[in-house]
Amino acid sequence: MKVAVVGATGMVGTVMLKVLEERNFEVSELIPVASKRSEGKLLSFKGKQYPCVTLETAVEMKADIALFSAGGDTSLEWAPKFADAGTTVVDNSSAWRMDPSKKLVVPEINGDVLTAEDKIIANPNCSTIQLVMALAPLHDKYKMKRLIVSTYQSVSGTGVKAVQQLENEIQGVKGEMAYPYPIGRNALPHCDIFLENGYTKEEMKLVKEPKKILRDESFSVTATAVRIPTAGGHSESVNVEFENDFDLSDVRKLLSEMPGVVVQDNLETNTYPMPIYAHDKDEVFVGRIRRDESQPNTLNLWIVADNLRKGAATNTVQIAEYLVENNLLN
Ligand code: A2P
Repeated sequence: MKVAVVGATGMVGTVMLKVLEERNFEVSELIPVASKRSEGKLLSFKGKQYPCVTLETAVEMKADIALFSAGGDTSLEWAPKFADAGTTVVDNSSAWRMDPSKKLVVPEINGDVLTAEDKIIANPNCSTIQLVMALAPLHDKYKMKRLIVSTYQSVSGTGVKAVQQLENEIQGVKGEMAYPYPIGRNALPHCDIFLENGYTKEEMKLVKEPKKILRDESFSVTATAVRIPTAGGHSESVNVEFENDFDLSDVRKLLSEMPGVVVQDNLETNTYPMPIYAHDKDEVFVGRIRRDESQPNTLNLWIVADNLRKGAATNTVQIAEYLVENNLLN
């Protein structure tokens, strides 16, 4: 299996290499791809050193599969070129997610939509993945009517520059700014760019992507996405109204039975999900499970995951694993 990782030197690409290694994904040849600046830079994988190549070179190397995380513009331009060369692309950017001809996949939920004809497959937004992982089993049983999501997102979701900005602020060092304001001791209600409707692009991803993954346009979603000074791990406060009434103990049971979801909810021991617990883990953690007492059939949840792992690298690698296991690469 020839595997290309596009954006291999970046925040998510680095974790992709780690996850491929940890999960023992079959790799006979690794092709790390980055910008021209990084050409020849050596990256280690399973005890061997591999030089970074450019996108042009990588296309010619005809990998079986390419995992992309080098930004939307790179994906828009280059994913089709890889696909034309016979390489199946799993893309972590937002470039293809809402394209009706492309699949948007969380393997535990809708892996079954994948076919051998899919040459460019989209990985959902980090905040979407952890949200749908927790909501899918509840939606199946109780049917969601309306969802209100507020996120508390870490700087690692923005990239290396943002992590450096927070680090500089902590150290009291002047440096390049990834955000228009300081992020330390602050909260920015501004993730990704603002759109014409007054929402951010991140907020609209949360509105649109869950419907595509859950194959249901009937529920409504509204979101507020906030950047906070955590280094890694996104948290979400979720208020969900169902069509049908639920039983809290059944909600806990459904969540704990969902593969990849862990319930952390014990008030006596102050046990609830937090980014420091989720760090470097592949699971999605759910806690503070309680009935919204202000209206019927409504639940409050607190959902946390490592945005670089299940929110990005791990889900991408799981899609690749699904393709291999189901013989969908050709
Ligand atoms: P490089 O390290 O050479 O700049 P992050 O957003 O976490 O900083 O990571 C971005 C990743 O995408 C890096 O690996 C970066 O490579 C890569 N990248 C950015 N722009 C391009 C481009 N035009 N072509 C190929 N790779 C790119």
